[in-house]
Amino acid sequence: MRDADLSGAILEWYDLHARVLPWRVGPADRAAGVRPDPYRVWLSEIMLQQTTVAAVKDYFHRFTMRWPTVAELAAAEDAEVMGEWAGLGYYARARNLLKCARAVAAGHGGRFPTTREALIGLPGIGPYTASAIASIAFDEPATVVDGNVERVMARLFHVETPLPTAKPELTALAERLTPRTRPGDHAQAVMDLGATICTPRSPACGICPLRDPCAGRAAGVQAELPRKLPKKAKPTRRGIAYVGRRSDGAWLLERRPDKGLLGGMLGWPGSDWGDDPAPAPPVQADWRDAGAEVRHTFTHFHLVLSLRVADLPEDARPARGEFVPHHAFRPSDLPTVMRKAYDLAAVTFGQV
Ligand code: ADE
Repeated sequence: MRDADLSGAILEWYDLHARVLPWRVGPADRAAGVRPDPYRVWLSEIMLQQTTVAAVKDYFHRFTMRWPTVAELAAAEDAEVMGEWAGLGYYARARNLLKCARAVAAGHGGRFPTTREALIGLPGIGPYTASAIASIAFDEPATVVDGNVERVMARLFHVETPLPTAKPELTALAERLTPRTRPGDHAQAVMDLGATICTPRSPACGICPLRDPCAGRAAGVQAELPRKLPKKAKPTRRGIAYVGRRSDGAWLLERRPDKGLLGGMLGWPGSDWGDDPAPAPPVQADWRDAGAEVRHTFTHFHLVLSLRVADLPEDARPARGEFVPHHAFRPSDLPTVMRKAYDLAAVTFGQV
């Protein structure tokens, strides 16, 4: 099948089966001339980096309710935005989100640049996200290649080269298929196809618009593609977290430095994370073992946090961290690993 016929079949399928997503202008509205709001496209694409549609939806609703425009987001307090992002992970995204909103509000008159080239280089916008925004919001024929798109290409063209080696080849194939008309709908169509039909395990080839031209299917290996080089095993690191509560109910928390893991987020003071962490209580107190460990997996390692809890006196003067009054403390402002620590430790104070 010619490339134009393949992309034609993909768009035809999309016209009937596009997912309804809160940031999306569907194909019927798009055909009627409705244009996507670049702010919503940008926000969704940042949230969707390394994160599923299911996980993003609620966050997207809360962000757009609270900050309906880029100017409003740009004017938000850092702590409010970091708190609203809590639980979504990859917190550098939230810091860059604010930087980008402020750059757009201050430097671009509150309007997003309209080309891939001008979008690249804004904080948090790399080649992938620039292509996604340029094609979806501005209909530039930029090619968008995420994991879904790679899988669809590897199967459709029966690419046996394993990832990550196959990336340039899969990108070239995706570029070949990108049409000059409706490139934004095409990008979203391939993503939807990968997410709903050409799924990682047991793809639904029976209802796939590309079932006849699919070379991977013809060879009977579609479900095994894309092949992948073996992943490195994740090491396990250990740490100690200190959950302290003052007699007036205030919690001893610490804002993490902007750089590094969980950067800019609130958390419990603690030790370094490593093979054999040294105790590092933020203040002298009768720290007791909470008798439960928090387990959390990051991109490159597993973490096992042991928990120490203490009742702290009114006059405690910690070397690190700040007391957050009971009424101002929202557990939902914590990143997931710190939230898990709170959920386990708070019971020992008779809180939950
Ligand atoms: N994943 C990343 N961007 C997406 C989009 N615009 N639609 C669906 N899934 C996506």
